[in-house]
Formats: sequence, structure tokens, C-alpha cells
Amino acid sequence: MSTIVVCGFLLVACFVGASGAFSVLEFVFGPKLTQHGSVRPKHYEVTPAQILVESQGFRFESHDVTSKTGHILTLHRIPHAKEKIPLGNNQRRPVALFQHGLLAASDSWLFRGEDADLPYILSNAGYDVWLSNMRGNIYSNKHVKYDSKRDEQYWNFGLEEVAKYDLPEIIDYVLTIAKQQSLYFLGHSVGSTVGLMLCAMRPEYNAKIKAHLALAPLVYANHPISFTHKLVFSPMTFLSSVLRQEKIHGIFPRRKYFSNMMEMICKDGMPTQPLCVAAIFLMVGADYPQFNTSSIPTLLNYYPSGTSMYLALHTIQLYVSGKFASLDYGNSTLNLNQYNNTIPPSYNISKVSHPVLLLYGTGDNFVTESDIKYLAKKLPNAVEIPIPYKNFNHMDFMWGIDAKNLLYERLLMLMKKYR
Ligand SMILES: *[C@@H]1O[C@H](CO)[C@@H](O)[C@H](O)[C@H]1NC(C)=O
Ligand SMILES: *[C@@H]1O[C@H](CO)[C@@H](O)[C@H](O)[C@H]1NC(C)=O
Ligand SMILES: *[C@@H]1O[C@H](CO)[C@@H](O)[C@H](O)[C@H]1NC(C)=O
Ligand SMILES: *[C@@H]1O[C@H](CO)[C@@H](O)[C@H](O)[C@H]1NC(C)=O
Repeated sequence: MSTIVVCGFLLVACFVGASGAFSVLEFVFGPKLTQHGSVRPKHYEVTPAQILVESQGFRFESHDVTSKTGHILTLHRIPHAKEKIPLGNNQRRPVALFQHGLLAASDSWLFRGEDADLPYILSNAGYDVWLSNMRGNIYSNKHVKYDSKRDEQYWNFGLEEVAKYDLPEIIDYVLTIAKQQSLYFLGHSVGSTVGLMLCAMRPEYNAKIKAHLALAPLVYANHPISFTHKLVFSPMTFLSSVLRQEKIHGIFPRRKYFSNMMEMICKDGMPTQPLCVAAIFLMVGADYPQFNTSSIPTLLNYYPSGTSMYLALHTIQLYVSGKFASLDYGNSTLNLNQYNNTIPPSYNISKVSHPVLLLYGTGDNFVTESDIKYLAKKLPNAVEIPIPYKNFNHMDFMWGIDAKNLLYERLLMLMKKYR
């Protein structure tokens, strides 16, 4: 068993190293390399998200929203149920806005199909479903001025910019199109974190959120950090300073050659598959019964999806520091320029006054029960809801085999309480 753990760890290290190396190569050789094997959607192409949604028989829409900083964000929408439920006069479908977590994208929620994935389930239950894509991922990679493939300026953002500039534009846009006053916000991991950050910084947005379904929100780490996490994250902090010096800011892009390479070692029938599983479980918590190992190759087509170096670094900092604070640039001059203070300011979480439903897995080794209990004490209007299955881990929220029975059906009932 311990051999598997060690090999699993080595695989995580290879994954991080290889992906970093690809980022460097891409930056050096630029578009020449990305033209081959890139799955980055072009304007005129049918995107993977569209293919997934339409293949399930649902209507699909794509909307672009421009953030205050010029980043163009792509939202995906499933406007109504497969069998469209007619509405009465002045009736509107309630809006559910999804925000994915680190390195995911809208389609990370969509590839398992109508009976398994939450967006389809909500759509069939009568919701107007919107899925956001964080800037820097495969779908939201355009800018009014910069080219994300060439210009390092494009990548100068972290979680805070997403929360401060992108989410407000997204929420306002969605509410305008849907002709409504407020929506349900469903965030997974740091997707939920940015929702909390937004209302801590701009409390006027509390009124626009009926309820925040917070799936394993990463806010305060209140547990001893595991040896593997320490091993994986400490070099990341160092790596990020190297990447910053080399002016390489876009990391872990979604690439066909990368997923093909991982598929070779992780697919069914390969003796190396247990290593892949061990590597994943070391990061997110072990849950064999809920993890469909045959789906690893599929999963790798929809994850990772690209992000910025600062965004990943901020995520790791939130986790390691246990503080809900702005990004620490690790350099007092840079902090002073940014915050007028050498120490990054903390977010005032007590300003998050809308209902927050804190859903957590007792098998999650990223966001633990202890973290959630600590967070619940700080939030003025929170409810703690454990998933009734002891090994539920960080990724089961999106990909657990029985997530529908264990979580999604419960969510539908909870959401009705917050009309
Ligand atoms: C597991 O994944 C495979 C491949 O994606 C799929 O065919 C199968 O139906 C999945 N099994 C379950 C129980 O979800
Ligand atoms: C901090 O950043 C500034 C500006 O980039 C740089 O000139 C300085 O050398 C850095 N200081 C340290 C201690 O790294
Ligand atoms: C920066 O901080 C100093 C000391 O706390 C304060 O006097 C000054 O007004 C601040 N400047 C700005 C622009 O906020
Ligand atoms: C945080 O927000 C609460 C509620 O608005 C306020 O009472 C408190 O003074 C704020 N704390 C800080 C440090 O700004």
C-alpha cells in the first residue's frame, strides 16, 4: 500500500512538472505549438460544452460578458428543461448560476449526462441554468486588448479579480437576461470562495443571491495539513516565483496531447491505473466506491482547463495560511503597491449576509468538517449540511457515482426553501 502511495505521489509530481513544462514550451514556441493538438475552441467552432449539452437533447446557449478589466467571459446556459415545461403569465424559471472550482470549466459539470450531472437535473426540475467560466480557462480566454497566448498582461489576476470584477458583471448580466432580481449561486471549492469574497467586498450583492449552495468551500483551513499536500504545495509556491520571473502566467491549460498522455497510464486495463487513482485520492480524499475509475480518460478531457499562476497561488495560500485574505505577493514592495500595506488585508466575511448552505463531505481532505464548522461560526447566515456518506470527498461533489442520490436531490429540496 505504501508503495502505491509513494508512486501516487510521484505521479502527482510528474503531472505538475509535465504540465509546467508544457506551459513553458507553449510560451516559448507560442501558437506554433498550440495549433497542433489544441482543444481550445475557436469562435466558429462547436465547443465541447455545446456538443455535450446538445447530445443530451438540451438546448444550449453561449453568452459573452466583458469584465471591467476587459477580460471576455463566456457563460453557458441551458435555458429550460429537455421537455420544456410551459410557464404561466409573469412566471419565470428560477436562475441557478454555477461557478466551478480550480482548473475546472463549465463542462466539468456536464460530461456524465442527464441522469448524473447537476446542471441537467436542475434544468429538468424547471431551473434556468447558467454555468460560468473563470477568466483564463479554455472558454474564457479572450480580452478586448490582450492576447492570452502572447501577452503576460492578460494573466495578471487572481481569485480577487474574479470576485471583484467578473462575478458582479456575470450576475448582473444573467439577472438582466432572465429578467429577475436574484439567483441561486452554486459554487464548488474556490468557485464558492469567490462568491463569498464578492459579498465580503461588495455587500450590495447579498440581495442578488437567494441562497449560496456552497459545495466544499475553501475559506479557512482549520485542520492539520497532510504530508502530501505539504509536499505538493510547497514547491508550487517556489515554482510560481520562477514562473513569475520567466513571465509565464497561464498554467495547466487543457491540451489534447496532455490528456492523451495521461490516458495511456490511467485507462482501464493498464497496470499503472492504481497509481493514477492513488494520486487523485492523495489530493482529494480516498473514496473507491464513488469513483468511476473507467471514467478517468473522459474526465481528463474536461480537466484541467487552465488558469493563472496567481489564481492557483492564492488558492494554495488560502489553504496553507488558514486566513481569508488577499493574495500575498511574497514581496513587501509588491504588497505595498497593491494594498497600501505590507500585509495583505483580510476579507470581512461577516458582511456575507445572504443564506449560505455549507455542504461538506466527511471524507474530503481539502475542506474538512472542522474547516466548515469554523467558517459557519464566522458567517452570519449559514447552515452546515454534511453529506450522509462517510467517505464523500472533494471531487464527489461533481463526479461521485451516487452524487445524485447523496446530494443533488437534497439540493433540489433545499433550494425550494429559499424562494
Ligand atoms: C463509468 O464510466 C464509464 C466511462 O465513462 C461509463 O461508461 C460508465 O457508465 C460509468 N459507470 C457509472 C456507474 O457511472
Ligand atoms: C520585490 O519586487 C520588486 C519589484 O518587482 C523588486 O524590485 C524587488 O527586488 C523585490 N524584492 C524582493 C525581496 O524580492
Ligand atoms: C496608505 O496608508 C497610509 C498609512 O496607513 C495612510 O495614511 C494613507 O492615507 C493610505 N493611502 C491610501 C491611498 O489609502
Ligand atoms: C466587518 O463587517 C461588520 C458588519 O458590517 C462590521 O460590523 C465590522 O466592523 C467589520 N470589520 C472590519 C474589521 O471592518
